[in-house]
Amino acid sequence: MNNEQLREVVRAAVRAPSVHNTQPWQFVSHLATPSEVDAIEVRADRSRSLQVIDPLGRELHMSCGAAIELARLAVRALGVRCDVELLPDPADPDLLALLHPGAPEPPTEEELRLHASAGARYTERGGFDERPVDEALREKMRLATAEQGVWLLYLDRPGDQVTTAVLLARADDIERSNPAYEQELAGWVRRQAEPDEGIPAAAVADQGARVSSYRRREFLPDGPRAEPPEASAGPPEAEHPLVCILGTEGDDPAAWLRTGQALGRLLLVAADEGVSAAPMTQVIEVPATRSMLAAHLGLLGYPQIVLRMGYGHGSPTTGRRPLEDVLRDG
Ligand SMILES: Cc1cc2nc3c(=O)[nH]c(=O)nc-3n(C[C@H](O)[C@H](O)[C@H](O)COP(=O)(O)O)c2cc1C
Repeated sequence: MNNEQLREVVRAAVRAPSVHNTQPWQFVSHLATPSEVDAIEVRADRSRSLQVIDPLGRELHMSCGAAIELARLAVRALGVRCDVELLPDPADPDLLALLHPGAPEPPTEEELRLHASAGARYTERGGFDERPVDEALREKMRLATAEQGVWLLYLDRPGDQVTTAVLLARADDIERSNPAYEQELAGWVRRQAEPDEGIPAAAVADQGARVSSYRRREFLPDGPRAEPPEASAGPPEAEHPLVCILGTEGDDPAAWLRTGQALGRLLLVAADEGVSAAPMTQVIEVPATRSMLAAHLGLLGYPQIVLRMGYGHGSPTTGRRPLEDVLRDG
């Protein structure tokens, strides 16, 4: 793999989703010769971590895990093997993964399709169509996460949906009552046109107008409110997204990275079929609601992320930092 191919791989990797679009990663190349890349380090950039909602770096690791999966697929799309070593050095916990591009090996059709979907994937915060996600795609997404040892639970039982919606709202209330939370969130909302990090205000400006039984994160607490509907208009139309939870047996950096890899893959499997998603992580960020969720739903192990999914109408809106800021030679 040469330097131009390395840049292509990193350009694909940074399209990964990351909490508040913090992009908490660094890529470091190891060169075998001046023109041949031997390995790629994926490192945590803790200067971009969210101390209030993510003090342990769980979401930071998940974000980087998704970038690792997108990088791996980009290497495979070049037609070479790619071995991924997670947390290879206990003395260097910021070294999250080493990717080793290897001998020529043609990519599978699926790898090519997933890699091609990375540019179309985006977080959908608007409403979804009524069209349900069919069983075949649900099974494909489940397999995509199982490959990483991550379980995926679809919330099909109304009782589980109600429990999740209530705990999510409770978590959101708890977070929003903390001024440090509001301050941290406001610090990642960007008001200029086409910012290269953070959440563009324009992308979340009309959130108040959208109806969902699941409380979404309010990025602009003082932003414009939707006009209340006319009393005679009747109750607003409810949406019925597919909601799922990804979780793991353990709850440590390796489990968080594997969840991120599974998330990256699942989102591409979905995007390839026109399905988008929105993470709703408040309920996991608050320890009390996270454990209540696990107990009430009878989950084995630890829930890591909750997703709303369906057929949306949006498109990618968030920017990415320039390559020079995230890629360096080792
Ligand atoms: C671990 C993780 C947690 C996230 N939590 C939320 C969330 O609670 N609410 C939300 O609207 N988006 C959430 N997101 C989505 C990010 O805001 C989004 O990925 C980022 O802004 C980049 O935009 P994109 O996904 O459209 O490329 C989360 C993403 C990750 C990886």
